[in-house]
Amino acid sequence: MRNRFHSICPYFAMFPEAFAETWLDRLTRRNDVVLDPFSGRGTTAFQSLLMGRRAVACDVNDVAYCLTKAKTDAPRLSSLKRRINQLEEGFDGRRWHHAAEKATEFFQYAFHTTTLQQLLYLRETLRWRDNRVDTMLAALILGSLHGEMDTSDSYLSNQMPRTISTKPAYSVRFWKKQRLKAPERNTFQLLRSRASFRYESEPPEGEAIVLHRDMRDLPRIRETLPQRISCVITSPPYFDVTDFEEDQWLRLWFLGGPARPTSGRLSRDDRHSFEAEYWRFIADMWRSLGAVVSRTAHIVIRIGSRKVSPDRLAKTLNASSVFSNRRVELIGQEISEIQKRQTGAFRPGTVGVSMEVDCHFRFRS
Ligand SMILES: C[S@@+](CC[C@H](N)C(=O)[O-])C[C@H]1O[C@@H](n2cnc3c(N)ncnc32)[C@H](O)[C@@H]1O
Repeated sequence: MRNRFHSICPYFAMFPEAFAETWLDRLTRRNDVVLDPFSGRGTTAFQSLLMGRRAVACDVNDVAYCLTKAKTDAPRLSSLKRRINQLEEGFDGRRWHHAAEKATEFFQYAFHTTTLQQLLYLRETLRWRDNRVDTMLAALILGSLHGEMDTSDSYLSNQMPRTISTKPAYSVRFWKKQRLKAPERNTFQLLRSRASFRYESEPPEGEAIVLHRDMRDLPRIRETLPQRISCVITSPPYFDVTDFEEDQWLRLWFLGGPARPTSGRLSRDDRHSFEAEYWRFIADMWRSLGAVVSRTAHIVIRIGSRKVSPDRLAKTLNASSVFSNRRVELIGQEISEIQKRQTGAFRPGTVGVSMEVDCHFRFRS
């Protein structure tokens, strides 16, 4: 059975676990340290632990941090259940009545009043940044916060895609036009059932360092990182494809962010529209990697773009590796087509990609 923690929550432009698994199998051994500086939903780190490797993961986005941390430091199911009971006992709908009423039209349509009261309470109560039980509960809610209500009862919201949070005005227009009403869900019950479902799989043992920061900071905190990072498996934001912060605004709201889509608050690099700026950012990535990984590390990078051909992407990625200040060899490159489902999931206004390129580099000094 596929480990159920992998799919706690989808993440835009995520790679499948088979991608991480294949490269880990090819390039690493037990106890090797593997880094993903753009960890997203945490697949590289989680798969590394499953395969007995050690992991370092880094991302600026709160959703990415919460998901990666939850998966790689899962508490016991019994602790989760205890905490859910405690949270449910502490919930008093009357206290949240006013806050729910004051919420914008989007929230009134997106969630049933009772569900919204519970979400507001949990949003304020969960200490997801520093308590591993609460991190897992927040991650489980993120995975259920929105989705298709006609195909499953595991989502809390009115009809929405599960990959991205649609914009407020667009969503309200859609719900009104379709006369759609948010389902009444009990968030505590949903948490119990989601937790039991995920824990059908064993969480892995082992060690992961999960960093909630810009990957450019890695050289500054080098002393706190393991000495021999021998492999990097990652995918930076693609060129001019999507804005992770804007596309996940509702999940970010649940983690304490603003009640509307924002951009550029968490990262300036989610979506570069000018090629020169994009490649400056990729040069920064190489600088960071060059400063923190071992002398002979393997680096596997998946990138994509609709505007730039895969061939040119690979060439420019290779050329920019000079900024690592290392001798770098391009061992191989492979162009692949994105699965239909993911390409189709790109929201209106987001440029889809249909091709991706995987490059395997090796540092030689
Ligand atoms: C293509 S996604 C990674 C997806 C991931 N491979 C997965 O399977 O879920 C790129 C990630 O880079 C993060 N990011 C953007 N700018 C960053 C920066 N300067 N430092 C670290 N992470 C950053 C985004 O938040 C996003 O999660």
